[in-house]
Amino acid sequence: MDYESIFSVSASKMKASKIRELMKYAAMDGVISFGGGSPDSANFPFDDIRNIINGWDNKKMAVAMQYGTTDGYPPLIEAIKNRMINLKKLNPEGQKIMVTTGGQQGIYLISKVLVSAGDVVLVEEPSFIGAMASFLSNQAELVGVPLESDGVNLDVLESTLNRLIKENRKPKFFYTIPNFQNPAGVTMSQAKRRRLYEISKKYELVILEDDPYGDLYFSGNADDYRPIKSYGNEAPIVYSGSFSKVLCPGFRLGWVFGDEQLIGKASIAKQSVDACSSAFGQVLACDYLNSGVIDNYLTKMRAIYKEKKDFMVECIAKYMPTCKATNPNGGFFLYVDLPNGISGDALFKKTIKNNVAFVTGEPFHVDPVEGDKHLRFSYSGSSLENIEKGIKVIGDAIKDFS
Ligand SMILES: Cc1ncc(COP(=O)(O)O)c(C=O)c1O
Repeated sequence: MDYESIFSVSASKMKASKIRELMKYAAMDGVISFGGGSPDSANFPFDDIRNIINGWDNKKMAVAMQYGTTDGYPPLIEAIKNRMINLKKLNPEGQKIMVTTGGQQGIYLISKVLVSAGDVVLVEEPSFIGAMASFLSNQAELVGVPLESDGVNLDVLESTLNRLIKENRKPKFFYTIPNFQNPAGVTMSQAKRRRLYEISKKYELVILEDDPYGDLYFSGNADDYRPIKSYGNEAPIVYSGSFSKVLCPGFRLGWVFGDEQLIGKASIAKQSVDACSSAFGQVLACDYLNSGVIDNYLTKMRAIYKEKKDFMVECIAKYMPTCKATNPNGGFFLYVDLPNGISGDALFKKTIKNNVAFVTGEPFHVDPVEGDKHLRFSYSGSSLENIEKGIKVIGDAIKDFS
């Protein structure tokens, strides 16, 4: 039986992630991969997690091993709420938090309850492939707004918005990653965040603010990276967080923080997807937050990721001098502009023969031709030794093109 003819319309819009495909290279012996966006598994908080579980009595074990409620484990919701208020300056009035199965699920559910076939969703260009795939699977039409070194171009955003409103196609929302953007590694200035808040309020444009990397900054403090949503609840902004980069992705936990009505609807949608997120992970994440272990871990990881990033930037300057790269102030990624005429795809085909993998910009762009001029490198999961080896291989391959 050929199933192609009976797949649903939404299934036909689904796009396999090039990064997931690349993971097969990353898993191969001897391959140096800057492709995935995985945290540094050598530095997961192994002992902290073991100690937390060893401290549980059977009553707590039973909660962890049982089904939970769809919105999440109430003590974890309370712990997230306190962290959002104290650290991110979010105001909980009229808002609701729902725990999700990774940040990815929050993004999917928000688009699920807002997007009908053909609705426009605005995205930064380039943007996170996993989010764009969610929007596409809900049959959205994506419209890209160019990203600059201090965040999205707000003049273009506003003119695009006005044009679409005139055409009776007001976008359902704008998706943004203000801190250490994936893939570009840039951070939105606070001036732009404030203006974006005003735009959101004026046009009643929903903003989906995705912030999985916000705690992993390399300089300054949490206030320097305060969310757009921290400017108030008068604009319809929904904030999305994740435990994947600040604990580990294996528990598959994230959360959304937004208007009660919107999150309430997303919670109904979640009931039919997975009923509840992992209770075991949630009980653990709750102790991880409340014990303060997270803050020690973040201090350690900021230094580790900064060292890797600084070294990769240094290696790019040394071995890839004809390329321009972003120098992120946090997170996992930097973005490379290739010299004119070199295709990212052609370069990949060369370097993979020498066991070095990365992702080209193509899957992150609404315009694939533009995407092929860029590369995304993740430094988070590689050792310093492999960063130097891998960048040298890519640099040598670039020389072969000229
Ligand atoms: C920008 C962004 N948002 C969301 C996610 C989803 O992460 P998770 O589902 O593991 O929380 C990722 C993962 O790489 C990401 O880079």
